[in-house]
Amino acid sequence: MQIEIRRAEQEDAAALRDLYAMPGAQSGTLQLPFPSLVIWEQRLTPREGHTVLVAEADGLLVGNLSLQVEPNPRRRHVAHIGMAVRDDWAGRGVGSRLMAAATDLADNWLGLRRLELTVYADNLAALALYRKAGFVEEGRARAFALRNGELVDALYMARLRD
Ligand SMILES: CC(C)(COP(=O)(O)OP(=O)(O)OC[C@H]1O[C@@H](n2cnc3c(N)ncnc32)[C@H](O)[C@@H]1OP(=O)(O)O)[C@@H](O)C(=O)NCCC(=O)NCCS
Repeated sequence: MQIEIRRAEQEDAAALRDLYAMPGAQSGTLQLPFPSLVIWEQRLTPREGHTVLVAEADGLLVGNLSLQVEPNPRRRHVAHIGMAVRDDWAGRGVGSRLMAAATDLADNWLGLRRLELTVYADNLAALALYRKAGFVEEGRARAFALRNGELVDALYMARLRD
């Protein structure tokens, strides 16, 4: 199946809402139940330093990655990444394609030096993907977030371009 990576458009809001409402995507991120279409539309409103990529397969939006460059002038070499793939498309290379597009953009077009993210410490699929992309663990945030009634730890990871 051909996977296309493109920038998200305003019309993708409903598909993104539905992707992040899936049990795996919700529990791997900071999304809440009962997501709102209006909030997703606002998230897609263009803003400085924000790039939202989506992966599409045969017209279906199957994955998303957002890259936000830090606005502070002394941290303009840094961006934060968040991502998710549809539950029924996990483990099929979509996350790797999105991450490759994001690191190419960061390294070769935006001139960024440091990419940051947080990941739940027990999210083995995400950890495998991030390590493969060159991220390393920099620390552990205990009781980072509430997930289905339980406080869970997260790891801070970053990737430095030489
Ligand atoms: C984490 C996530 C983005 C990974 O995307 P994906 O499309 O499933 O990942 P890929 O298929 O590209 O696999 C990437 C690597 O991870 C490995 N991997 C995938 N699932 C795995 C698992 N359950 N356990 C261990 N490794 C796994 C793959 O083998 C692959 O490595 P390889 O290329 O060396 O074989 C996706 O599973 C997801 O969206 N999960 C729910 C939301 C979430 O956790 N988002 C991340 C928030 S930090």
